[in-house]
Amino acid sequence: MAGSLPSVTLNTGRLMPIVGFGTFQIVGRSQIFRVVDAALASGYRSFDTAAVYGNEEDIGEALRELLPKYGLTRNDIFLTSKLAPSDHGKNAAERAARDSLSRLGVSYLDMYLVHWPGVAGIPMESSRNLQIRTETWNALSALYKQGILRGIGVSNYTVKHLEELFASCEVKPAINQVEFHPHFQQKELFKFCEAHGIHLQAYSSLGGSHNRSLVQDPVVTSISQRLGKSPAQVLLRWAVQQGVGVLPKSVTPNRIAENIKLNFPLSEADMMALASIKRVEKYAWNPARVA
Ligand SMILES: NC(=O)c1ccc[n+]([C@@H]2O[C@H](COP(=O)([O-])OP(=O)(O)OC[C@H]3O[C@@H](n4cnc5c(N)ncnc54)[C@H](OP(=O)(O)O)[C@@H]3O)[C@@H](O)[C@H]2O)c1
Repeated sequence: MAGSLPSVTLNTGRLMPIVGFGTFQIVGRSQIFRVVDAALASGYRSFDTAAVYGNEEDIGEALRELLPKYGLTRNDIFLTSKLAPSDHGKNAAERAARDSLSRLGVSYLDMYLVHWPGVAGIPMESSRNLQIRTETWNALSALYKQGILRGIGVSNYTVKHLEELFASCEVKPAINQVEFHPHFQQKELFKFCEAHGIHLQAYSSLGGSHNRSLVQDPVVTSISQRLGKSPAQVLLRWAVQQGVGVLPKSVTPNRIAENIKLNFPLSEADMMALASIKRVEKYAWNPARVA
């Protein structure tokens, strides 16, 4: 249960549960109600959505309807959404944040992330990406100061993108949400974020929805069998034990419950064995070429 797992203290001073519920590709009112109900029952108190997921309205409605069943209110939930790549720029960014608030039916967001460092419609190599995403960041910083966004952060930012952001930003990002798992360990980025007080939050910890090679990796399955834990639990625990947040996505009730039961230790040797997996594979989009 979430109660036995730590929260992380962000550089805003606010707490965030280290395990959140991922909602990419979960759509449709009845499905959203079913999974949000299962997630709340299993102890999830943090939900990750995005404008591009097309599910903000249904998630907002499901939370409003289901929270009282668990004796919870909006303030007990950590809600994250993200700015779409098509909404970069000063005016568009402010409008996008307000639109997300309105679709979710909330007066504030706990976290709002720039989903992607590139601007839709502009070539990845163009230096205009930097100029426009800087405007985006300044617009979000103003909403953060107003308290409508209680935390702001980025997603899919490389060390280069972060260094450029630091050169001009007044507000430092609280989070960098990136692909992170034993097949894509991002050691340099992880160290960089730690050194700058930015919380690294992992996505696709299980390899995403279209690939089984991570949950079927022989190192993962052998630890899983020895410990009597599922491969997913081993992968999620590996991140959490390093202080990295996770956002497992599932529409399957027993998996939803299992993915938050991470209160078991991995030995130093098992942590090392997972970190020593040689296979390097990226399962989601790659921001390395975005200027
Ligand atoms: N910022 C970004 O650019 C970005 C990109 C990708 C993802 N994300 C966020 O991170 C979240 C998680 O990443 P993700 O959606 O890519 O996928 P993921 O959590 O790595 O994997 C989801 C897949 O694993 C399966 N699964 C879940 N629990 C399992 C278990 N215990 N055992 C075996 N299989 C299991 C799910 O199947 P069922 O659903 O059928 O159970 C689904 O096919 C997203 O939902 C989203 O919130 C962010």
